[in-house]
Amino acid sequence: MTSPRAARPLQLGPLRLANRLVGTAHASGAVAGGVPSPGDADYWRRRAAGGAAMLIVGGTVVSPNSVNRNGNITEAWRPEIVAGLEARARAITEEGAVAACQLVHLGRETLGAELWSHPVGPTVVRSPREPTRPRALGPAEVDGIVDAFRTSAVHAWSAGFPVVELHAAHGYLLAQFLSPVTNFGPDATTVSQRVRILDRIAAAVRDACPGLVLGVRVSAEGGEEAGLGMDGLCELLPYLSGFDYVNVTVGVRTTYVRDMAVTDPPLLDAVGRLRAATATPLLVSQSFRTGASIDTALRSGADLVGVARPLIADPHFPRKMLTGRESSIRPCVSCNEDCRAFDPVLLCSVNPELAPPGESARPAYPLTLGPTRRSTDRRRIAVVGAGPAGLECATRLGPDHDVTLFEGRDRIGGQLAIAAGAPHRSGWRRLLDYYSDNLSGVTIRLGHRVSAAELEGFDDVVLAVGAEETLPREAAGTTSLLTSQALAGGGEPLRGAGHVVVVDDGFGLWPAASSVEAALAAGADLVTVLTPAAAFASGLPAEGRVQYLRRLSGQPVDVRVLSSIVSVSDGSVEFESTLSGARTRLHADRVVVAGERRPADWSLLAPDNPRVHVIGDALVPRKVAHAVAEGHAVAREYLLTAGG
Ligand SMILES: Cc1cc2nc3c(=O)[nH]c(=O)nc-3n(C[C@H](O)[C@H](O)[C@H](O)COP(=O)(O)O)c2cc1C
Ligand code: SF4
Repeated sequence: MTSPRAARPLQLGPLRLANRLVGTAHASGAVAGGVPSPGDADYWRRRAAGGAAMLIVGGTVVSPNSVNRNGNITEAWRPEIVAGLEARARAITEEGAVAACQLVHLGRETLGAELWSHPVGPTVVRSPREPTRPRALGPAEVDGIVDAFRTSAVHAWSAGFPVVELHAAHGYLLAQFLSPVTNFGPDATTVSQRVRILDRIAAAVRDACPGLVLGVRVSAEGGEEAGLGMDGLCELLPYLSGFDYVNVTVGVRTTYVRDMAVTDPPLLDAVGRLRAATATPLLVSQSFRTGASIDTALRSGADLVGVARPLIADPHFPRKMLTGRESSIRPCVSCNEDCRAFDPVLLCSVNPELAPPGESARPAYPLTLGPTRRSTDRRRIAVVGAGPAGLECATRLGPDHDVTLFEGRDRIGGQLAIAAGAPHRSGWRRLLDYYSDNLSGVTIRLGHRVSAAELEGFDDVVLAVGAEETLPREAAGTTSLLTSQALAGGGEPLRGAGHVVVVDDGFGLWPAASSVEAALAAGADLVTVLTPAAAFASGLPAEGRVQYLRRLSGQPVDVRVLSSIVSVSDGSVEFESTLSGARTRLHADRVVVAGERRPADWSLLAPDNPRVHVIGDALVPRKVAHAVAEGHAVAREYLLTAGG
């Protein structure tokens, strides 16, 4: 939907924002030794070209206390940083967006990475995410922190950032100062006392950078630790009236980037309350994905709406949203798989155009059989299999070639549809809907198992026939046994089963994790997980795992680690300890196995003459990101060839 409200400009101090959509803080990860590398400015230029009114660059720390050892965080207090910041600001500004630089001190948090330094905080209160307590800052050190923010802001300002945002959210140092749980004592008993460090930083920054627009980011939740509950946040907001805008989000470290279990923006219902608590321009963010939710937030009183991952997945999100082309937005599915790993830089599972430095696309290696016959002619191309690899390929090729997409089932989706059917995993449905809406020009033949003879008539053939989950040998011949894929449509096959045993393969990925949730949704009295690994769900992205385990909290789930399956018979399962070898037999009404996925056999479909590519799980079963990247890589070859 097009939101006329989102298209309206906003005056923010001396700055005119072209519309109401803001890219909230994140980092490109193209930073080496604390200094942005050339790929960093390229990243921001592309985001800015997508039409956001303002882009806030994050991952920028103000002190050596907050530097991790791999050096991929921007070190803003160092004078030699200014050239890199200039390139960033120029890239954003030249594309018509307002450039904002967020500044952070992590305080007692370490991001889970090794630091050169040690964690510090306003008081000695241990973070639930850290194994040790921080050291308390002395008064002179607090002065030093105020100065570190001032110095870093001067660097950003002199580099061409007209906006600086103080990061007082997510439980980092400034949030630790704001929270009564982590900042207490005789001089921190009231909100105005706890907010004092922000006042001091703001005064120092404004003094040093006249005319700078200064914002602050705060977050709700985590009131029991370094966060603030909604009440605490609303009490705080009036004290932030000296800032030019307030950016409100949710969560602390490990929960501030919500995964796909969160389908609606968590702050949507609270916007009215936030609006009532402050007259300062209000930016709200977290999990905004649709024009409708953006419009609701603006209608409820927000001045600006922030998005981060949607811009990573599709930098043109703002422009498409503002011009009524929402269905052409490549959607962020909130998987948190690639973008939170920084391996080696910021990448995205659904966006193959986001590439590591020096590459024009995410590297991908389809298997190509037969001779290469380059041609600029329009070609007849068969894509076999409508999972993510085939869909990506067909979507890209559709406008330029005569593409026929064959699918043996009566619906598109493959692994994507299976994943989307699991409880709390509906984010994948957004990608499926995107493909479904963007297959223009593609002839789709559902429920048709194509033969090698039919494929002979095509110039080129792309085989994306997927994979099948297999059951382990130990489990053969029992009727109470299911693969995790059998739960694709939900836990219905488990309905009525009192005790469900889920057998993990030891890799702790979503198939086993989702099977547990499917069993609970089907009403199981008890779910026992057997895993040969030392922990369960260990293969999930860190934030997804935290949010997943929180959902399981209080549920009847028993996890037996270091346990290997020995045999399954109807009514029972036997497993052994991988350490002692001791065997245990459990009663089980149903057993669900996360089995090995093996490529479907495509050898009979590979005709002799035409050019054949094999992509996605048909090659080796892996993640959606591989499938999408390989589909894209094959399509790029033809698009380039045909000049498309
Ligand atoms: C890769 C990545 C890096 C992030 N870095 C920061 C940061 O430096 N500072 C910050 O305040 N938020 C950071 N965030 C959080 C985002 O600004 C945003 O609040 C969060 O992703 C939820 O919004 P979304 O659903 O629009 O992505 C980061 C998010 C991602 C995905
Ligand atoms: S990796 Fe997943 S969560 Fe991150 S931006 Fe891409 S789709 Fe969104």
